[in-house]
Amino acid sequence: MKKDIDWKNLGFGYIKTDYRFVSNYKDGKWDEGELSTDSEITMSESAGVLQYAQTCFEGLKAYTTADGHVVCFRPDLNAQRMAASCERLEMPVYPEEKFVEAVEKVVKANIDWVPPYGTGATLYIRPYMFGSSAVIGVKPAEEYQFRIFTTPVGPYFKGGVKPITLRVPDFDRAAPRGTGHVKAGLNYAMSLHAIVDAHKQGYNENMYLDSATRTKVEETGGANIIFVTPDNVVVTPKSSTILPSITRRSLMYVAQHYLGLKTEEREIHVEELKDFTECALCGTAAVLSPVGEIVNHGEHIYLPSGKDRMGVITQKLYDTLTGIQMGRIEAPDGWIKVIQ
Ligand code: PLP
Ligand code: COI
Repeated sequence: MKKDIDWKNLGFGYIKTDYRFVSNYKDGKWDEGELSTDSEITMSESAGVLQYAQTCFEGLKAYTTADGHVVCFRPDLNAQRMAASCERLEMPVYPEEKFVEAVEKVVKANIDWVPPYGTGATLYIRPYMFGSSAVIGVKPAEEYQFRIFTTPVGPYFKGGVKPITLRVPDFDRAAPRGTGHVKAGLNYAMSLHAIVDAHKQGYNENMYLDSATRTKVEETGGANIIFVTPDNVVVTPKSSTILPSITRRSLMYVAQHYLGLKTEEREIHVEELKDFTECALCGTAAVLSPVGEIVNHGEHIYLPSGKDRMGVITQKLYDTLTGIQMGRIEAPDGWIKVIQ
């Protein structure tokens, strides 16, 4: 039976669900892994994750479709990206097929927590891995734990699809040849001060620039960015220091193949911002969140078509992507994993 939750009014927060998947890496191999009802973790006081932040994570969602199935969106790409994160952080890769199987297992075990169709809520799935054995010299741990928990969520930004305001911060997110392209916990730790400061000053999020030249647009702390030009080209920053968002890659495909729009992945200079008609954040949590205003050190840039609600192209992209995720629109081959 579905849990008794006010699905329509969920925010983006942690709610403990019944089961999580847990697998341990020891003596050079992963164990079989199992579902557990224990949401607490006990480990060495000198664990690699606690001392040197050796941890990475993923984020994806389970959706109830119009015809009542529960599905995940492209979990194979999360498995692939987590493998890349692990390699960069000297952590053992969790085998990609087993990752997808574990996602399926944990969603099935928590099926009563998957929000019903039409509520606007989804089940957020958080796979993560951390160094659990003791280290004190700076080196990788020898033992690791891979876990996946789930939590029902509503919109990431309060106010749903009301356009948000970004500011260009004086803080950087990722260094050239650093870890910006992988989903390392450390990228988020270093963004906390910047986001608290942004909120204090009345902004919803930070729009980071490339840290080498501080002239090019990168992404926000938790989402990639897309722009629309006056002649309806969908443009997204090309950078080796941003996270390769699965939502953004999917949206670019949707723009081309479903909506017949031109797309560009290229460097975007901060002076160009005033030339765009629409801007939106994209990601698993953000879905497609319209941006109404960008503030760059006192200069206010208003996105004309997204001031009060989503811009026309953003709305089309949003409707098509969520239509695919919720089973209202036919998906490209391999995009939808039915949980059975
Ligand atoms: N960029 C950052 C920094 C993120 O944390 C996320 C969230 O996962 C994204 C982009 C969006 O990626 P995805 O669409 O794969 O969720
Ligand atoms: C996601 O969209 O899954 C993320 O990981 C973003 C996170 C910062 C909430």
